[in-house]
Amino acid sequence: MTKSDIPFDMVVVGATGDLGRRKLLPALYFLHKYGEISSQGRIFAVSRQEGNRDSFIEQAGTSAKRHIEADELTTEDWASFTERLDYVTVDATDATTYNELAKRLADGGDRVRVFYLATSPTLYGAISRAIHAAGLVTPTSRIVLEKPIGTDLQSAAAINSSVGEAFEEHQIFRIDHYLGKETVQNLMALRFGNILFEPMWRSEHIDHVQITAAETLGVEGRGGYYDKSGAMRDMIQNHLLQLLCLTAMEPPAQLEQDMIRDEKIKVLRALRPFNLEEIEEIEQKTVRGAYRLGAIAGETVVGYLDEPDVAKNSTTETFVAIKAEIDNWRWAGVPFYLRTGKRMGHRVSEIVIQFKQVPHQLFKSRSRAIQPNRLVIRLQPDEFIKLGLMTKRPGPRMILEREELNLNLADRPGGHTFQAYERLLLDVIRGVTTLFMHRTEVEAAWTWVEPILDGWQELGGRPRSYNAGTWGPPKSIALLERDGRSWYEHHVDSES
Ligand code: BG6
Repeated sequence: MTKSDIPFDMVVVGATGDLGRRKLLPALYFLHKYGEISSQGRIFAVSRQEGNRDSFIEQAGTSAKRHIEADELTTEDWASFTERLDYVTVDATDATTYNELAKRLADGGDRVRVFYLATSPTLYGAISRAIHAAGLVTPTSRIVLEKPIGTDLQSAAAINSSVGEAFEEHQIFRIDHYLGKETVQNLMALRFGNILFEPMWRSEHIDHVQITAAETLGVEGRGGYYDKSGAMRDMIQNHLLQLLCLTAMEPPAQLEQDMIRDEKIKVLRALRPFNLEEIEEIEQKTVRGAYRLGAIAGETVVGYLDEPDVAKNSTTETFVAIKAEIDNWRWAGVPFYLRTGKRMGHRVSEIVIQFKQVPHQLFKSRSRAIQPNRLVIRLQPDEFIKLGLMTKRPGPRMILEREELNLNLADRPGGHTFQAYERLLLDVIRGVTTLFMHRTEVEAAWTWVEPILDGWQELGGRPRSYNAGTWGPPKSIALLERDGRSWYEHHVDSES
């Protein structure tokens, strides 16, 4: 990552909201602190609330203390960071309220101008139109949109079209913060920077793939949003499908802007579609769950239906497991099991590549059966790549056991570790779209997800319950057991 000398003005719409406070301001602070952004960069927080620069800085300071580690937040760095900050009261959907902002931006000349919409996606169209009508879209302007783009294919397409009336596609940066995670980048390095794996990366050698994003958190005060969304829209449609795409895509010819996106789109289009005519497939290959009362790290936590702002009769899922299949040459017959949930036993996001058994069991009679190789790419909370290999146990007899080659990716020398939002914000300023989603990608993901949502609607009933602090409903375990497989942590349990 190179330091950026590009002068910019970043207008954060909704800077005082949850995302602004938790992710954006800390990320911008770190970019400032570590000298990654030009000293000529200004940040304008805009919102409807009456306020001024001083009151905003005070508010930002309070939330910085909550969201930035104390040893990183020095008085000096914070003070110099705040020199970049400004605040303007704007009703972002109303073009007539942009005068003051326009005045302050005017002396920025033709510098890069970024509009970051940290608002409800339902406002994206109206805000883009207002920015355009206020005459603020310059040739060097960009707009950043947070997920979820829409709640289904139609609403996503409508949002994309209205934003597209004000900004050209190359100016639109649709964020999926999973793409900014260090280990996700490492997945590409692993696949395309080494000759070892790529020849094995196909159905001849891989039995199946598991992608898990498990959280111990519940809905954290976002019950209102989450109850309308659920795990499928909140996590699968974007984060998990992106991980699937990066795992399954063909090597792009270059790392150039659209080339990776084109490969990802091909994967999305090759996903075997679910459809309502074969609703029993949806019943069989998908699992939806919702947590009930349980314990996380020894603390009792309430069930989903008792979370604030969640409807008492809600049928929203907080857990999803899916057996996805990719109908192309490379992946025919290799299931990709996806799983995500809130209030699960552990926080862990990882991709597990389970290789096939050796073709001939040479050591069978002398030891425990050979366990097939397994590659684990862990994104969080720790970051590593582990390769399970069979080795000989020390001693006189030929007994084999599995050992792990462990590549620890965290805490390596090389300075400050970039968090996802830091990397992505820097890419926006630099105009690099590789890690952002193209309109076609978002819509292709919805095209696959929507029939599942419709199928659940049609099937009716409630999501299956699971106790908070566990790995989801038993049907999720059965999803793999039926295929003679098991989720990775059950392997671990049974091996120890
Ligand atoms: C967000 C979801 O996109 O990702 C949240 O809206 C979820 O519900 C979060 O908690 C998970 O992100 P991370 O980086 O903590 O895995």
